[in-house]
Amino acid sequence: MIASSLAVDSKLPAVGTTIFTVMSRLASECGAINLSQGFPDFQAEPALFEATMQAMRDGRNQYPPMAGVPELRAAIADKLASLYGTRFDAEQEITVTAGATQALFTAIAAFVHSGDEVIVFAPVYDSYVPSIETVGGKAVYAQLRFPDYTPDWDAVRALITPRTRMIIINSPHNPSGSVLSAEDLAVLAEIVRDTDIVVLSDEVYEHIVFDGRQHCSVVSHPALAARSLTVSSFGKTYHITGWKIGYVLGAADLMREFRKVHQFNVFTVNTPCQIGIADYMRDASRHLGLARFYEQKRDFFREQLRASRFELLPCCGTYFQLARYDAISGRSDREFAEWLTRDVGVAAIPVSAFHPDGRDDGVVRFCFAKREETLAAAGEKLRQI
Ligand SMILES: Cc1ncc(COP(=O)(O)O)c(C=O)c1O
Repeated sequence: MIASSLAVDSKLPAVGTTIFTVMSRLASECGAINLSQGFPDFQAEPALFEATMQAMRDGRNQYPPMAGVPELRAAIADKLASLYGTRFDAEQEITVTAGATQALFTAIAAFVHSGDEVIVFAPVYDSYVPSIETVGGKAVYAQLRFPDYTPDWDAVRALITPRTRMIIINSPHNPSGSVLSAEDLAVLAEIVRDTDIVVLSDEVYEHIVFDGRQHCSVVSHPALAARSLTVSSFGKTYHITGWKIGYVLGAADLMREFRKVHQFNVFTVNTPCQIGIADYMRDASRHLGLARFYEQKRDFFREQLRASRFELLPCCGTYFQLARYDAISGRSDREFAEWLTRDVGVAAIPVSAFHPDGRDDGVVRFCFAKREETLAAAGEKLRQI
C-alpha cells in the first residue's frame, strides 16, 4: 500500500462502494444465492462466441472507427427501422459505446454545464447522479408514485427552471419494472416543447417488456426523437453484461457533441466483439424472443413466491421483481436485505439504495435473470420465512 498525504477535494464525497458490489460480495461471503446484482447466471449462445472468434481470426483486432464498426452500426439501424419505424443514419446518428454506463456518462458530460439542472426520477439508477455531479451539474428529483412507480408529470413540470438542461428517463425502469406509456411520452414531449432540454432516454431493457406490451421508445416519437439521446445495452439483450458494449442514438447535431466527448473518453470499443454482435443480431428472433424468455422466468419466480409472505409488486418489464416484506419483518430494507443474505441465504437489493434521500418503503429487489434451478432454490428458502 502507498500512503498519500495529498488533501483531495473529492468531487463525489458521498459516493462509496455501490450497493450492488456490497450485496454481491456479502452473497459470496455467505454462500447465498445471489439475486441481487442484475446479471444472468446462464451462458450466451455459442453462435455469438463463434462470430467473435471468427472476427479475431480474420484479423479484425485493431482500432475500429471512432463511432463503431460499420457492420454493427448498420445492423443497429436496420433493427431500429424494423422495430420503431425510424431510420437512423448509421454514419451520423449511431455510436457504439463501452456499455450503457459510458454512453450515459458521455451524454451527460457533453451537454450538462456547471450549474445546470438535470431532472431524474427516484428511485434512480445509481450511475446518473454521480455522472451529473462529476461534471458540476445538479440532480433535481421527481418522485415516481408508490407503489406503481409511475411519473407525476405535473410535479415534473413544476421542477423545470431556466437552468434545466436535461431530463433522464428510464423505461423499462430499474429497479421497479414499470414502463412508460405512449401517453407518458406525449406529455413529456408537451412539457419540453418550447425549451432546449435534452432528453436522455435509458432503454437498456427495451426488449424485456411483458404481457403483450410494446416498448414505447422515444425513438418512435418524432418530437422527442429530435431532442433525445437514446441508450441501449447489448449486455442486457444478449446475456453478456461483462462485454460492456452498448450504443447511443441521436440526431446528427446532438451526436456531433456526444462524439466530441466520446473520442477523448474511450475513443473506440472492442473490435471483434462488435463484429460478433453485428453478425449475431442479424437474426431478429434473438432480440424479439427475449420478452417471452424473461416473461417465463418472471412467471416462474412469482409462482415460487406465491405461497410466501412477500407481497409482489407488478413487473411490466426488466428482469427485476420488487417485493414488500412488511408481513415478515419491520426491519429497514437495508437490514432486511442483509439478514436475508446472511440468515436466509438469498441476496437482494434494498430499494432505498436507489433513493437519494434514503426513502424506505419496505421493498427489496430480486433479479430473476437466473436459471430455473437457481430461482427454485431461492424460492424454497424465501417461502420458509
Ligand atoms: C437502467 C440501467 N441503465 C444502465 C445500465 C448499465 O448498462 P451497461 O452494463 O451496458 O453499462 C444498467 C445495468 O444494470 C441499468 O439497469
